[in-house]
Amino acid sequence: MEKEKNKKKILLSGIKPSGVLHIGNYFGAVQQWVKMQEDYESYVFIANYHAITSVQDAERLRYQTLEVALDYLAVGLNPDKVNFFVQSDVLEVAELTWIFNCITTMPYLMRAHAYKDAVAKNEEVNVGLFDYPILMAADILIQDTNVVPVGADQKQHVEYARDTAEKFNHIFKKEIFTLPQPIILSETGVIKGVDGRKMSKSYNNIIPLFGSDEIIKKAVMSISTDSKVVDEPKDPKKCNVFALHKLFAGENLPKIIEKYKKGGMGYKESKEILIENMISFIKPMRDKREDLAKNPDYVLEVLRKGGTVARERAIKKMKIIQECVGIIKTLN
Ligand code: ADP
Ligand code: TRP
Repeated sequence: MEKEKNKKKILLSGIKPSGVLHIGNYFGAVQQWVKMQEDYESYVFIANYHAITSVQDAERLRYQTLEVALDYLAVGLNPDKVNFFVQSDVLEVAELTWIFNCITTMPYLMRAHAYKDAVAKNEEVNVGLFDYPILMAADILIQDTNVVPVGADQKQHVEYARDTAEKFNHIFKKEIFTLPQPIILSETGVIKGVDGRKMSKSYNNIIPLFGSDEIIKKAVMSISTDSKVVDEPKDPKKCNVFALHKLFAGENLPKIIEKYKKGGMGYKESKEILIENMISFIKPMRDKREDLAKNPDYVLEVLRKGGTVARERAIKKMKIIQECVGIIKTLN
């Protein structure tokens, strides 16, 4: 009983290796994992199966998978606390996806935002993209996950996982799956990009977390603002530059608010302050990343260790699921 009470809850989250980590990813999702790693039994992974829905170039996928691994470790995921792994090392998720597919209807998946957006843009939708929420449900449910810290855009996906868990439990008349909770921060659930829309790789409006100083300067200088001149007072709440100051200014934020309200600071100056704060915030992580990049064997070893733990749990869970569904395995 005592042991039960002290048992840590399970945290799981992932990111697709489909491009470089940006400030939206960091403040919306990744930073939460770093903060929560002390208090949860954590599973964080690189969703390379999900990435194949869009990245169909072996060299690029391999490269980006390892780059994302460096990003995660550099921002402070501690491999002694977190089981950090590559999705494809837990092949049981593919098996579970198939089982879930068989209890999922097409109209239900047609309501997914990502699918609807792709259809609205007249894009060709592959079956993998259509089925994306179900693979994600398998990732989450196979580990008996309690909490899934993500950005606001992933809320619907976690709801798909909950629905799928409930449906499975209902059809097979057993409480096999735990219902996961999304954790979305109200302040940083949606970070805006340089054009004022949600920052996203697919909108080309990102500020990369590990970009060079030059890239960061260029991105910040391109943030869209209104046309108020230097002397005019400005409303921080309406300013895309200010939205980012909130993340990087720390204790200097009240001073910046004052400058906005008083007038006398142009957007150029505001952007310069932001660049300076951003670069000093990123520097220690950037230095750590450079060190890690010199030691790819260490990174692979971390992934192997995390993958072993995640896989063992998944194998155990899969046995229970197979039994429940009536799948016979005659080989080990
Ligand atoms: P992208 O939209 O750039 O392709 P991903 O889909 O790979 O980003 O997102 C990875 C994680 O980062 C998810 O948890 C997602 O919710 C979060 N995230 C992405 N963009 C933002 C943003 N602009 N603000 C807050 N969180 C975000
Ligand atoms: N769909 C998530 C994203 O685009 C990545 C992801 C895959 C994920 N499986 C997951 C996130 C399970 C949380 C839990 O960012």
